[in-house]
Amino acid sequence: MANAINTCFLLSLLVIFLTSSLASAAQYNVLSYGAKPDGRTDSTKAFLAAWTRACGSTSRSTIYVPPGRYFLRNVQFIGPCKNNAIVVRIDGSLLAPTNYWVIGNAASWISFQHVDGVSVSGGILDGHGSGFWGCKQSGKNCPSGATTLSLSNSKNIVISGLHSLNSQLFHIVVNGCRNVRIQGVTITASGTSPNTDGIHVQLSSGVRILNSKIGTGDDCVSVGPGTTNLWIENVVCGPGHGISIGSLGRDLKEPGVQNVTVKTVTFTGTQNGLRIKTWGRPSNGFVKNVLFQHAIMTNVQNPIVIDQNYCPDNKNCPGQASGVKISGVTYQDIHGTSATKVAVKFDCSKRSPCTGIRMENVRLTYNNQPAGASCNNADGTASGFIQPSSCL
Ligand SMILES: *[C@@H]1O[C@H](CO)[C@@H](O)[C@H](O)[C@H]1NC(C)=O
Repeated sequence: MANAINTCFLLSLLVIFLTSSLASAAQYNVLSYGAKPDGRTDSTKAFLAAWTRACGSTSRSTIYVPPGRYFLRNVQFIGPCKNNAIVVRIDGSLLAPTNYWVIGNAASWISFQHVDGVSVSGGILDGHGSGFWGCKQSGKNCPSGATTLSLSNSKNIVISGLHSLNSQLFHIVVNGCRNVRIQGVTITASGTSPNTDGIHVQLSSGVRILNSKIGTGDDCVSVGPGTTNLWIENVVCGPGHGISIGSLGRDLKEPGVQNVTVKTVTFTGTQNGLRIKTWGRPSNGFVKNVLFQHAIMTNVQNPIVIDQNYCPDNKNCPGQASGVKISGVTYQDIHGTSATKVAVKFDCSKRSPCTGIRMENVRLTYNNQPAGASCNNADGTASGFIQPSSCL
């Protein structure tokens, strides 16, 4: 009897548990809020209505975007939300307006702000940026341009399996965030498109960029001031300007960059491979504890480069010396081909020279010959096989 009562009691607990967890897996389908997958109808309001429901839910929720093409103007998904488990599952394509003026004066096309626990999976985000690039290149009057996907002041974010195409400006920007994982994304824009960086990270900690393929007209990944604990692994880069820490040191007071790991990356036909770049201006910024490991270069113009004399148009760089202090940068197992004679270039600041540069097993060739290296104000050590021979 006691056993039967117990079993009955446990069964009813199970039923309560199952029904409540089923009820909590609320799904908000954008079609239910008036989105039209026809590529023409403005679905912005429908997406926002689904967000309002998902964000206002006190339990985990999913926003579902079925297959089809959705036309969207600027969309801001703003928190804080009442739950910290929102999934945005996109099986369709989101299309920006072809008239670049419509979104071009907002900072971003799609943004998440002040959210905690959001994951976006799948989807094609087409920024339709080519008209805007043409405008910039023709020197006409143009809007300032929009980032395709911006994540700001948020934490515990996952972006996976997304394809970002032809952004007006940067494709993905992570700003003021903690614990962000970007994985299995593909980012594509013409190799001649201006300022179309793949992923830009700044003022953020614990960002991981994994298993992704990025080919654009600017940096594959750019790392701005205040980035700490960044991990980049398994990234295929090209065309574009490579992976760049910087530009840094534009401002006198600037948070530094610390603890960056870049491993197992390949660069094909890019302008740079692994770059650190700072303005030739006074600054209290710094770069420390960086590991570049297992990189393959194919026909890269500047495979390994530190440039502390960045000063476009030679304007506003008094004395041309960077204040940014670079220390503890390791290059380990980097090999392949350089498209120019000088494959390793450390052009550090005369005011704050680079220290603790370590090279281990580097082999870079130019035209089937050992490439060259050049050092300015750079101090460090080399070990293992080193070609070009070290100038440290
Ligand atoms: C460096 O960053 C990684 C994540 O990229 C983190 O796991 C590790 O704990 C950090 N190391 C230090 C010393 O903060």
